[in-house]
Amino acid sequence: MESIALAARIRNHQPGHALAREFYTDPGIFEHDMQYMLLGHWFCAGHVSSIPRAGDFLVVDMGSESVIIVRTAAGEVRALLNVCRHRGSRLVTGRSGKAQSARLTCPYHAWSYDLDGNLMAARQMPDSFRRADMALKPLAVRIMEGLIFTTFAREPLDLGGAAAALALSAGVHGWATAKVAHRELYSIKANWKLAVENYMECYHCTPAHPEFARRHVYARPAEQAADQEREGRTRAAALGIVVPDIDQYGCAAGAGRESVAVMRSALHDGMASATDDGRTVARLMGVFSASDGNSTYFDIGPISDFLAYPDHGVIYRFIPRAADHTEMEVLWLVHQDAVEGVDYDVGRLTWLWKTTSAEDKKIVEMNQAGVNSRFFVPGPYSLQETYAARFVDWYLEELAAAI
Ligand code: FES
Ligand SMILES: [Fe+2]
Repeated sequence: MESIALAARIRNHQPGHALAREFYTDPGIFEHDMQYMLLGHWFCAGHVSSIPRAGDFLVVDMGSESVIIVRTAAGEVRALLNVCRHRGSRLVTGRSGKAQSARLTCPYHAWSYDLDGNLMAARQMPDSFRRADMALKPLAVRIMEGLIFTTFAREPLDLGGAAAALALSAGVHGWATAKVAHRELYSIKANWKLAVENYMECYHCTPAHPEFARRHVYARPAEQAADQEREGRTRAAALGIVVPDIDQYGCAAGAGRESVAVMRSALHDGMASATDDGRTVARLMGVFSASDGNSTYFDIGPISDFLAYPDHGVIYRFIPRAADHTEMEVLWLVHQDAVEGVDYDVGRLTWLWKTTSAEDKKIVEMNQAGVNSRFFVPGPYSLQETYAARFVDWYLEELAAAI
């Protein structure tokens, strides 16, 4: 789509309403999304516990881009573009793996790189060839509370506020000393913005997520939940747990810093964790000596969302693939010393968010199917969709500033 046409579409947006159909369907706009929003922000690539040893790697994708997150020989975490410096082949495929002999070797003509991305071997190249010029392209990478963040941006957004907010949320919940206990990948036939908007609002929670709604006060409108939220804060204070709400969500375009939000919300009375029976499912994490019956939601950038309970955590990674395709990776965290079958049962641990994620996939795909109609007219957001509305404003602002 031409920039002029896109600028007109942005101007035509009705404030407080969902986006027009094209924003959820047009491959040209998806390329703008990539160029002007997604590639410019930080996103979570996973948790350090997934790559404990030298040579362990994760592959994280976005659109047509792909990054290798690898543990180096020195024990550091690097992010390297998954594009060979010879003729551009992907170096590794799949979601994760281990580099053989501490080398990333291209499957095409066998150029071979060390774990820092330096080219170590390339056969039959002319004398003028300089290996030193052919290192894999590095991306910025930052570990915060055990979470790996990377970005394609040449001048990455400032993470100072995000780091401080994560220390007060993921840090309090002990995520730096957690491990991934389970992973699920959901392939969603929908535009990434529909998936993110859905995640950012709980207007749908009562009708679409009965299991979630029976455990989380957050499913209720704020005025109906006030008493229970107050009780939740009292329980936290009694245990000396301090997790402040932070709202730097959807920073103004050009602000130069990454978006971050932290929000606490109570579980229903008597619930120690968001489980089938309300009891904790694994050993307590972080500063928690007992459950305070609350949940902590936090978000960094546009596509990385997190949820922490006193005994486990959940990472939501939205992975835009194409205009009509998004993947959603869900990672469950427990204390790094928790032993499966002794301290936790994977079925109990994952029950709620597996159920909820399957429901979300279904409703987001139904949303896309309806939005695909040429007769779709964007409707107004409710009072319980404030964050979805703010996400849309933020998105349009970033696009408008860039085109
Ligand atoms: S493309 Fe990688 S070695 Fe040729
Ligand atoms: Fe949902």
